[in-house]
Amino acid sequence: MASKKESFLGTLGFVVAVCLVCAALVSVSAVGLKDRQVANKLLDQQTKILEAAGLLELGEKDGIVATYNKFVTAKMINLDTGEYIDGNPDMFEERRDARDVTKSIKPASDIAGINRRANSAVVYLVRNGAGTVDTVILPIVGSGLWDLMYGFIGLEEDVNTVKSVVYSDHKETPGLGAEVMNPNWKALWPGKKMYDEQGDIAIRIVKGNAKKGDIHGVDGLSGATLTSVGVEKTIHFWLGEEGYGPYIANLREKGLN
Ligand SMILES: Cc1cc2nc3c(=O)[nH]c(=O)nc-3n(C[C@H](O)[C@H](O)[C@H](O)COP(=O)(O)O)c2cc1C
Repeated sequence: MASKKESFLGTLGFVVAVCLVCAALVSVSAVGLKDRQVANKLLDQQTKILEAAGLLELGEKDGIVATYNKFVTAKMINLDTGEYIDGNPDMFEERRDARDVTKSIKPASDIAGINRRANSAVVYLVRNGAGTVDTVILPIVGSGLWDLMYGFIGLEEDVNTVKSVVYSDHKETPGLGAEVMNPNWKALWPGKKMYDEQGDIAIRIVKGNAKKGDIHGVDGLSGATLTSVGVEKTIHFWLGEEGYGPYIANLREKGLN
């Protein structure tokens, strides 16, 4: 009886010791790999920005970081005024600021389903080979079917023609909403116009196929109408007055350079 009790305690002690050793190993590797995780996250973000800028092929040839540093400048803006502000774009996290009531607002019309919107944002200005800024990349976030989806819209110099819509992070279903990442769907965006001639936001995702020649219509994702609606609402929110509207108005007035 006594030896049974001892062996039970021994087993328990062994289990606890193994747990402690494993917990220590996990903590040490989590701390040790933190820098690498941050670097990988940054690299992933720079890759997506180059893709949105149409520079991914060049980046893969010449190196992502080198190409990003050569052509892209990140700047902070105040979303309410649309003006550039001081601040380190590398340290900015939209969702972290959005959780802080002193650094965010509750949108009057939360069509993107984000709950709160940070007061600041990072925008990316992209130079061409001649050194002239001809593309602006705007980060977007909004609800899909299952969770928030993060991405970028790239606009050409007229701040109307679409260069790209590139999603970087989402939790949509593979084969359905996750088709936002499908190159064939991404290829439908370049050349579309975000605004109509009256200056109203006119881009929309059409269930099924957009009519040939429809400059504002993009085919919906088949079997994923809810994700498609989320993408459209997200873009409308971020192009609107509570998103980049004031910044876009400034760019139109003063130009990208
Ligand atoms: C397991 C499961 C996962 C789904 N994932 C998505 C999704 O990621 N995005 C989406 O829009 N619809 C998704 N749907 C389908 C939606 O419930 C809905 O039927 C669909 O958006 C309607 O699109 P449709 O009108 O193009 O068929 C999913 C359905 C099921 C059962």
